Amino acid sequence: MTVSTDSPAEPLRGARPEPASAVAATPTVAVIVVAAGSGTRLGHAEPKAFVLLHMRPLLDHALDSIFGMNEPVQIIVVAPVDRVADARAIAVRAAARHEAPTGFVTVVAGGRTRQDSVDQGMNALLPSVDVVLVHDAARALTPAALCDEVVAAVRATGHGVIPGQPVVDTIKRVAESGAILGTVDRSELSAVQTPQGFPRAMLEAARAWAVQNGRFEALTDDAALVADAGNPVSVIGGHPLAFKITTPEDLERADLILQAAAPQPTLLPRIGTGVDVHAFAADDTTELWLAGLYWPGESGLSGHSDGDVAAHAICDALLGAAGLGDIGSVFGTADPRFSGAHGHVFLEETVRLVAAAGYRVGNVSVQIIGNRPKFSPRRAEAETRLSGILSAPVNIAATTTDALGFTGRGEGIAATATALLYAAPEPGQTPDLNWEA
Ligand code: CTP
Ligand code: MG
Repeated sequence: MTVSTDSPAEPLRGARPEPASAVAATPTVAVIVVAAGSGTRLGHAEPKAFVLLHMRPLLDHALDSIFGMNEPVQIIVVAPVDRVADARAIAVRAAARHEAPTGFVTVVAGGRTRQDSVDQGMNALLPSVDVVLVHDAARALTPAALCDEVVAAVRATGHGVIPGQPVVDTIKRVAESGAILGTVDRSELSAVQTPQGFPRAMLEAARAWAVQNGRFEALTDDAALVADAGNPVSVIGGHPLAFKITTPEDLERADLILQAAAPQPTLLPRIGTGVDVHAFAADDTTELWLAGLYWPGESGLSGHSDGDVAAHAICDALLGAAGLGDIGSVFGTADPRFSGAHGHVFLEETVRLVAAAGYRVGNVSVQIIGNRPKFSPRRAEAETRLSGILSAPVNIAATTTDALGFTGRGEGIAATATALLYAAPEPGQTPDLNWEA
């Protein structure tokens, strides 16, 4: 057996100052969380309690159950001998998350077998404790309420109490050859779980009895050990979430359960529209830039920037959907930095502003209205260019106006755009919905 590295008198280092009330509320219940196994069947390089489930070690999840109990309890974590410091760090973090004092949390090194590890935990019990729960860290998703129920049942009965679930499969006794020897009566069976709870005196006496009678090695289960010494132990209803993570399939199951329980971010749609018009430049030297592309040989558009009506209409649609104003108010036509600037400059900055406000672009639809240039030969190229800038699908349509109006007379080009944004909050973050904007 190995030696405890923390005594109960020596609470966790790194602990926050204890509130004065913590001294008075000395716990009468202790939970020994056995986490010193290697997890051979799980097959990870790390000991099982340190294997990550949803980015947190199994031990961290297991401690959530204990810190979630109704009454303050002494928590004794039994860790692999070479991982005591890591277990301590996990316990300090878990306590902080639950705003619990760490004064009643102790980490000790475990032993060769599970029962050796329980022994190490028993050595760290506070004198005030009269009910002891022994719990597998491997049952990482156990509801706190099950722990409370076990405590209540131990107090009510004055003897050992363990949670169990009815066995649903038909159970056969099978010979080594594979021949069926018989069917076991399922109604008498219970698949037992942890935490297993006992009056402290009964558990201590039973463990001493097992050692004296050479029964210690054979009795791997706390309840069996207590019953073997002649004490009553009864079963109360267990919980499906108290299943033990033993194999990779169990870990996958736990992962799926947590995934299903995690709140999905609500994607709130926001829509915006934009319109822009530029006249063709009077001179022949102005280049035409439209939908992010250069159009050699075509008449250019006049304007403070490069006159890319499609890019500008998209900016207005995006800013409008995010409630961030419009291109004029954001960029300012008088700002010399944007003199002659190409459409992508405005688009990139608009996308940055929209993302900073907590949105991502769903899709954008653009309509270009004008006689020239003939757009369809370069539609795909323009869509690829703009989709790349926005990281979202962009569809571009083009039309003439049947010789009517300023576009029909060839005086300029117009564009309209519609943009869909999604508010995509990080979990736990409130999106800026700009309802007032
Ligand atoms: N345990 C322990 N000390 C040991 C062996 C096991 O504290 N010497 C703990 C485990 O950490 C686990 C619980 O007892 O929380 C149940 O054991 P099990 O599921 O068998 O875990 P491992 O022994 O780690 O796994 P394996 O048997 O696959 O190696
Ligand atoms: Mg084991």
